[in-house]
Amino acid sequence: MAESKVKDMGLAEFGRKELSLAEHEMPGLMAARKEFGPKQPFKGMNINGSLHMTIQTGVLIETLQALGAKVRWCSCNIFSTQDHAAAAIAKAETATVFAWKGETLQEYWWCTEQMMTVPGQDGCDQLVDDGGDATLLIHKGKEFEEKFAKDGSLPDPASTDNAEFKCILQLLRDSIPVDKTKYSRMAAKCKGVSEETTTGVHRLKEMAAKGELLFPAINVNDCVTKSKFDNVYGCRHSLPDGIMRATDVMIGGKRALICGYGDVGKGCAFAMRGAGARVLITECDPICALQACMEGFQVVTMESVVGEIDIFTTTTGNFKIITLEHMKKMKNNAIVGNIGHFDNEIEMENLEKFAGIKVENIKPQVDRYVFPDGHGIIVLAAGRLLNLGCATGHPSFVMSCSFTNQVLAQIDLLTAKEKGYKNNVYLLPKDLDEKVASLHLPALGAELTTLTKEQADYIGVKVTGPFKPDTYRY
Ligand code: NAI
Repeated sequence: MAESKVKDMGLAEFGRKELSLAEHEMPGLMAARKEFGPKQPFKGMNINGSLHMTIQTGVLIETLQALGAKVRWCSCNIFSTQDHAAAAIAKAETATVFAWKGETLQEYWWCTEQMMTVPGQDGCDQLVDDGGDATLLIHKGKEFEEKFAKDGSLPDPASTDNAEFKCILQLLRDSIPVDKTKYSRMAAKCKGVSEETTTGVHRLKEMAAKGELLFPAINVNDCVTKSKFDNVYGCRHSLPDGIMRATDVMIGGKRALICGYGDVGKGCAFAMRGAGARVLITECDPICALQACMEGFQVVTMESVVGEIDIFTTTTGNFKIITLEHMKKMKNNAIVGNIGHFDNEIEMENLEKFAGIKVENIKPQVDRYVFPDGHGIIVLAAGRLLNLGCATGHPSFVMSCSFTNQVLAQIDLLTAKEKGYKNNVYLLPKDLDEKVASLHLPALGAELTTLTKEQADYIGVKVTGPFKPDTYRY
């Protein structure tokens, strides 16, 4: 507890009460504790994580700890920490926590560095990451340490306009002269990372393709019981939750534009339709666009509708989706939010720098940007994940699916060497995916049909599964 840095330890009791409610809603994680706890697979190991420090993540942390790990944690977003969750975990000392809601960017990267720095050790044995920031810091740290050893140069924060990257470079500029091999040792010690989200997996695959990845990675996102549940149904729940808590606007009857119709976009579109909005979609992928049409959504370009939309939500994992030019043309009090991993889906930097723009802060994570012509737009969570910034993210039950996969991925990494894993990105086998789903069925009162041997033979599967080939898309 002494080392942890959270907002208010006085919130620990409230956090603990919510943690115990969440445990009841997270049957996969509780089953993992029961099945693997006695074997203590993580005994003596340090597992560090960068993933939204919420109540649900608290149950994941306490599962890793129940399986023997010593855990250090930070959030992967400046607004996503639930301070009562952070306090409860820090107070119980089930992990050392560096996280609070409303970190500055400098504080965010400080927290990430603290999380990764294990006192008396070179670093952690295994890493849990969400979006890839912790993985990026290790990689950039090692790269700049090697450069420093070669030519004595230190990273120059002035070399980039990107506020986030400036912070990383400043942090490395300060830390490398103090310990010249810290990140290289960290990279050497880390057996692997399990990555939670689409954007983080995208980054890992890029690094692996360039031969730059320093350890094996498990792609948790593409477990079916993650991306086809958390990304879809999680967002279906937490997008309207975020919009309503932030604005209390009537969604029914409004025109809502969902940018991107992948897994997250699908969940968002269904939620807005469920709340009575008239939903429009932008897509670049003809398959996803056709899917949207088949669901009865109108597929449009941003330019053709920007002046008519009441609620904008970006879900693409891409950047520059809503530009400054788009925002200038929006209706008065149009709501603009992002649920994709990074804030660059909306051109926030250009909006903030626009001459004559005025910012009215309505309440934390809700700002009205007023243009010189007098019309304003309401920006949620400063363009960062609005479901975690303006509400509490996905509910426990769906996060139990995601995080049970995280635990299985961490167990898989224990034997990465024996299995001959290279510095590449791996998926968990399908039988584990089916197992995660099975663990969540009894809580919903679902009764699964058991195939007869004859039926299983007829469709070419085993009675116990896997029931689908790897190519099946669900
Ligand atoms: P996905 O790849 O399934 O979907 C993204 C979609 O956006 C694709 O269909 C793609 O064709 C489309 N797209 C890309 N550029 C576009 C553009 N310029 N205009 C219109 N459409 C465009 O990815 P997924 O899983 O839906 O994730 C999306 C983002 O949400 C990622 O950044 C991911 O990390 C994040 N995420 C956020 C969660 C949250 O709780 N806020 C939960 C899960 C994922």
